[in-house]
Amino acid sequence: MTATAEPSWRASLVLALYRNRHVAQSRYLQLATVRRDGRPANRTVVFRGFLGDSDRITAVTDLRSAKAQEIQASPWAAACWYFPMTREQFRLSGRAVVVGEASGEEDARRARRDIWRELAEATRHSFTWPTPGEPRNPSVPFVETPTDPEAPLETFGLIVLDPVEVDHLELDGNPQNRWLYHRDDADRWLAREVHP
Ligand SMILES: Cc1cc2nc3c(=O)[nH]c(=O)nc-3n(C[C@H](O)[C@H](O)[C@H](O)COP(=O)(O)O)c2cc1C
Repeated sequence: MTATAEPSWRASLVLALYRNRHVAQSRYLQLATVRRDGRPANRTVVFRGFLGDSDRITAVTDLRSAKAQEIQASPWAAACWYFPMTREQFRLSGRAVVVGEASGEEDARRARRDIWRELAEATRHSFTWPTPGEPRNPSVPFVETPTDPEAPLETFGLIVLDPVEVDHLELDGNPQNRWLYHRDDADRWLAREVHP
């Protein structure tokens, strides 16, 4: 194993984001969580950036959604991310937290406010909708009033995934390339190249 001062999976991920920047779908990743019955649950979310200079990955969620509840009950989560232009896959796993108005660390709460401000109005507005996953009820009105970019709605949450393991696969190359990374107890990233 090689100890790396910098988590090079992060540099590879930043490079993949850059090289795939013209493909909108390259900002979509699949985020898996654990349901209360122990079964996995998976869905697509939009990558909203790293939390500052850290390795932590952010995505937005409605706090009333199943995924927010699942993370609060069981923090382990996994993300799978495919970049079509460069034919790379990143699989990240670690603990996630859900940050709301009154929860989470200050940097994450600040990011939540910043990300809210940057969202398209249509996306912000979706947080006024009735509770996700409940039976559709035509008599429950969808609110028309615009949202305030400076005041995140209380239903708005930020998911912060803090990876402890990353598996990076490059399909291009003959043979393909694959690296495994894991963070040790001293918070150092260890990298090893493995057979694909
Ligand atoms: C392309 C795409 C992007 C999406 N992005 C998000 C997102 O960033 N946040 C989110 O909560 N749901 C997003 N969704 C919807 C989720 O995939 C999911 O259907 C919804 O959040 C309910 O999931 P849950 O019941 O597991 O919480 C997206 C769906 C698609 C198809």
